[in-house]
Amino acid sequence: MTNVLKGKRIVLGITGSIAAYKACYLIRGLIKRGAEVQVVITPAGKEFITPITLSALTSKPVISEFFAQRDGTWNSHVDIGLWADAMLVAPATASTIGKMANGIADNMLITTYLSMKAPVFVAPAMDLDMYAHPSTQANLQKLRSFGNRIIEPGTGELASHLVGKGRMEEPENIILNLEQYFASQGGDLQGKTILVTAGPTYEKIDPVRFIGNYSTGKMGLALADECTARGARVILITGPMQQSTHYPMYKHLQVESASEMYQAAVEAYAEADAAIMAAAVADYTPVQVEAVKMKREKTGNITLPLKPTQDIAAALGELKRAKNGKVLVGFALETTDETSNAEDKLRRKNLDFIVLNSLNDAGAGFGYDTNKICIINKQGKTNYPLKPKTEVAVDIIDYLVKTLKTEG
Ligand code: CTP
Repeated sequence: MTNVLKGKRIVLGITGSIAAYKACYLIRGLIKRGAEVQVVITPAGKEFITPITLSALTSKPVISEFFAQRDGTWNSHVDIGLWADAMLVAPATASTIGKMANGIADNMLITTYLSMKAPVFVAPAMDLDMYAHPSTQANLQKLRSFGNRIIEPGTGELASHLVGKGRMEEPENIILNLEQYFASQGGDLQGKTILVTAGPTYEKIDPVRFIGNYSTGKMGLALADECTARGARVILITGPMQQSTHYPMYKHLQVESASEMYQAAVEAYAEADAAIMAAAVADYTPVQVEAVKMKREKTGNITLPLKPTQDIAAALGELKRAKNGKVLVGFALETTDETSNAEDKLRRKNLDFIVLNSLNDAGAGFGYDTNKICIINKQGKTNYPLKPKTEVAVDIIDYLVKTLKTEG
C-alpha cells in the first residue's frame, strides 16, 4: 500500500500525563512508516518519560527548553513550525489544552504550537472528570474552532486500569488519524469516486446451507485501501468475509448474495468514476431456497437445480456504453487458456482492462498473501512478478490512474 506517512515531518508534543509512555509506541509506529519525528516536551512531560528514551527512538535531540545550552544558542520554535508537515500533541493534558486555547506561551511546546504552519492534532489524556469539566470542554471547543483536530479519547484498557478513567486514544488509532489526513490531501485519485467489489458471495440453499467459494477478499480490500491512500472516495461492496480494511471507507456496503451485490453495485456505479470488480461472484444460485432445512435423503444422489446469476461486471459494462469516461476493471482467475479466456472476458464485459491471475502460479490466488498478475487491455499485455497483495494493489492502481487519464 502507498505509505502516506513516508517522509512526513511530525512534531510530537508530549505533556505531563501517565500516557506519556505511549509516546514511545507513537514514535515507533510513525518511524516504522517512514516519518521523521521531532519531540518537543513540556517540563512536566519529562517527569514521566526521559528525553534520552525519546531521542534514542527519534534519532534527534529532544527539544524542551528555549535555550539548549548556556552559550546563547536557542531552539527556534519558528523554524520547527515551518519544518513540520503536522504537529501532534499526544498525550495532551488539561493544562496544555488550556494553554493552547488561550495562547499562554510559557513553554517550548506552546510557542511551537503558536508558530505552527501545519495542521495540529490533539489527543487528550486525563481523568474523565477533568475531561468532562466545562472548562476543558470549552478549551477543546476553542481548539476545534481554530481548526485543530481533536482525537477523542477512546477506552484503552491499560490506561483506564492505570489511571482510573483517564485515557488517551490508542497509538495505532492516533497514527490512523494522521494517515487519513495525509491520504485526503492530494494523491493521484483525489476527487475520484471508485467502486470496489470484494470477497465471495453466498447463495442460499436452505436456512443453514449455502454455495460459496474460497475468496477471502484480501485483494479487493488491498485495492480499496490503496485507492483511499491516494485520496479517492471508495465505495466498497463486500460479500461475507472476516478481513477488514486498514482505512475507514467512504461507504462500505455488506451484502451476501450475487443478486444483492448486483443491486448495490449498479446503484453505486452511478456516482463512480471507476469500478474494480474484484469479487468472486457465484455464477449460479439455487432455483429455489428451501424454507426449512433439507433432510438427508435415505438413498441415492440428489440434484440441486441452479440458475445463472446476473453478471455484475457485464451489466456495468453495458451501462458504460452509454456513459463514457468511466473506467471498468475486471479480474480473471483462470486455470486453462489463461490469456485467451481473459481477452474474451475483456471484450464480452466491455472492460477497460482485466487483471489476470493464474491458479497455476505458486503463491497466487485465493487465501495467499501474494499474487502474480498480468494486466491485459485492448492494446496488449503487461506481466508483473510475484508480490505481496498490498504491492500488487499499487501496480493495479497505477494502471488505473494511467487509464483514467487517457479516458478522461
Ligand atoms: N463477475 C461479476 N459478476 C458475476 C461473475 C463475474 O461481476 N456474476 C466479474 C468478476 O468480479 C470478475 C470478472 O467478472 O471481475 C470475471 O469473473 P470470472 O468468474 O472469472 O468470469 P465469468 O464471467 O464467471 O467466467 P467463467 O466463470 O466462465 O470463467
